[in-house]
Order: sequence, then C-alpha cells, then structure tokens
Amino acid sequence: MNIDLREHWWIGPVEIPGRLVLAPMAGVSVQAFRRQGRRFGAALVCSEMVSVAGIQHRNERTLGYLRVGGDERPLAIQIFGSDPTAMAEAARFVEAAGADLVDMNFGCPVKKVTKTGAGASLLDDPGHACRLVAAVAGAVSLPVSVKMRRGVADGARTCLEVGPKLVEAGAASLTLHPRSAKQMYTGSADHSLTAELVSLVDVPVIASGDITSRARAQAVLASTGAAAVMVGRAAQGNPWVLTEIMGDERRPSRDEVVAELVLFMRESVRELGEQRAFGFLKKFYGWYLGHGRFPRPFKQELVMLPSLADVEQRLFAAAPGARLVLERLLRDLPDPADEVLLDSLPISIYGGG
Ligand SMILES: Cc1cc2nc3c(=O)[nH]c(=O)nc-3n(C[C@H](O)[C@H](O)[C@H](O)COP(=O)(O)O)c2cc1C
Repeated sequence: MNIDLREHWWIGPVEIPGRLVLAPMAGVSVQAFRRQGRRFGAALVCSEMVSVAGIQHRNERTLGYLRVGGDERPLAIQIFGSDPTAMAEAARFVEAAGADLVDMNFGCPVKKVTKTGAGASLLDDPGHACRLVAAVAGAVSLPVSVKMRRGVADGARTCLEVGPKLVEAGAASLTLHPRSAKQMYTGSADHSLTAELVSLVDVPVIASGDITSRARAQAVLASTGAAAVMVGRAAQGNPWVLTEIMGDERRPSRDEVVAELVLFMRESVRELGEQRAFGFLKKFYGWYLGHGRFPRPFKQELVMLPSLADVEQRLFAAAPGARLVLERLLRDLPDPADEVLLDSLPISIYGGG
C-alpha cells in the first residue's frame, strides 16, 4: 500500500499540508534548519525546546529562539518547564511571536531538565502534566500539542495512560517517541505503542523515532494509523532524506550538497552571529559531507580552519559548480527582510544577532 504523504490534515484549526514533520532538536533546529526542512518537503517544522524560565527572565538568547519566518509556517515552537504560570506566560510569547502551534516538551531525558520537574519526568506525574497542559491551553488561542516518550523507565507504557488524559486537559495533538527516557537514543523506537496510542485518542498522533527512509515512513504510517511521521537525526545535514521520503530518489550532486551547506552557514551566521555560528556549524560539516559524498579527511580539514570565510572558500574549491547552484538558490529564496514576524513581540529581541 502506498500512503499519500501529500495528504493534508489538521491540528485543531491549523492545516498541515502533508504527513512529513521535521523533529525539534536542541542544538540543531535553528531557523535555517527549519526553513530548509520546509523547502525539502516537511509540512510542519518545530523549534528546539525553549526554556520557559529563559522567557520569564527575558534571556536574550532564549528569546532569539522565538524568531518566526513567514516561510517556516506552519511552525510549532516547543517550550519546556514545570511551572504552570510560567508555562502559560511563555505560551503567550510563542503566540505573539507568530507561531502556529505551541508544543510542550514531555520527553526530554536529560538530567539537567528532568531534575527540575520538566521534560520526561512529567510522565511520572500525570496530574501535574495535565495541569500544565490546561494552563497553556487556557492561555492561548493556538492549538497546543505535546511531545512525549513512552515513559521514564525501560519498558514503560506510561504514554498510553497519560496520553488520553493530556487530550482531556486540552492537547490538540500528541507526538510519541516510543523509547523510554532511560534509553535515551539506544535500542529502537517501538511503534506498536504508537498504534495503541492512536487507538486511544481522538486527536492526531505524530510518530517519531527511527524514520530514516520512504519505506520506513510508509510502514510506520500504515501500521500505526498515525497522522504523520517525524524525521529527526536522519535529516541532520541531509535534507535529501525528506525528498526521498516524499518520493524523489535522486541523490544530490556534490555541488548541490556544498551549495546547501554554504546557504545553511550564511543563514546560521545571520541568526546566531558569526562567533556562535562558528562553533555551532562544526558538527554539520560531517553530517553534510558524509554519506560517501566527500572523503572523510575533508571534514577534519574544515573544522581546523580559522574562520567561516575560509571554510566557504575551501568548500567552493572542492565543488566549483556550487557557486552557480547557490546563486540559483538565493534567487528563489524570499527576501529575509520580508519574513520576520517579530513586530508583534512584546519586546525587541534583535540585540543578540
Ligand atoms: C540532538 C537532538 C536533540 C533533540 N532535541 C529535542 C528537543 O529539543 N525537543 C524534543 O521534543 N525532542 C528532541 N529530540 C528528540 C527528537 O525530536 C526525536 O524525537 C528523536 O530524535 C527520535 O527521532 P529520530 O530517530 O528521527 O531522530 C532531540 C533529538 C536529538 C538527536
């Protein structure tokens, strides 16, 4: 059976124009990543998790995560925290920033987050988890979604108990990454739990975990009844996995790979500033240039270079045709000045680059 990934579906009143979603990933899902994901076929993109404490304290870097571009939409901004009042306030910021959905993180397994009562630890406190959802849903007119793991402990089935309660509390959609928090990213995602969750709730469910190809996406959609599949790690430095999942199997040329990487670098600089982008981008070189696209030592060479201008120059030397591909890409992109919807935010966040 071939499932149509271009089929539209809805989260509350928000129309999602396809069944492929790009995952939120801390340290990865910057605006450049989300925009690229939309261009390559993701129907919905999501910010990385944004700290509600950071929003509460007007932390400049945190507020920078609330940049929303017109070409990203529909866009979910994900928040994490454990205090209902702070969560509600953060959700209002997300709404003012121009997002289409507020996503709540009930899945982060990292100690720094769980020890504060946020992320995956909320799955062990369903009452509080529901209070948080109710507080956020009551604070904004946007639909609220929740992303969660199967539970905290290995083998947990907590998501099946908590999921329906979250919907009752006001969640308009659920995303399930069916690994335990303890598992982190080891083992495999057990999508039989996704199928069970789909049967228990009357809101759309997004399946996250180990979606790495069109075949896998089709199999998970067919076996779970999920509304959509979410792609995370497979899309790091590899937006072509999105086109493959959507049905275009053409592999990118070296020129295309380098042009996309250079565009990503330039957008990251615009977003993060040169200094932060320099460190942020290092992990992307290997991700882009791997997959047998370039010899391994090339990446090592790039991470040793002293500036992004040097990296760009070296990339163009290795793939001279990339300049032309990049020119074409730039011509087709919307003017960045037209895209940023920050005017409605209660305070200026332009300071931090
Ligand atoms: C580096 C990294 C950062 C992540 N950050 C977040 C996050 O901020 N919020 C979230 O809900 N999930 C986060 N995740 C989980 C992913 O969204 C996704 O559920 C998980 O990676 C499984 O999907 P995959 O197998 O397609 O990668 C992160 C995953 C990775 C690898």
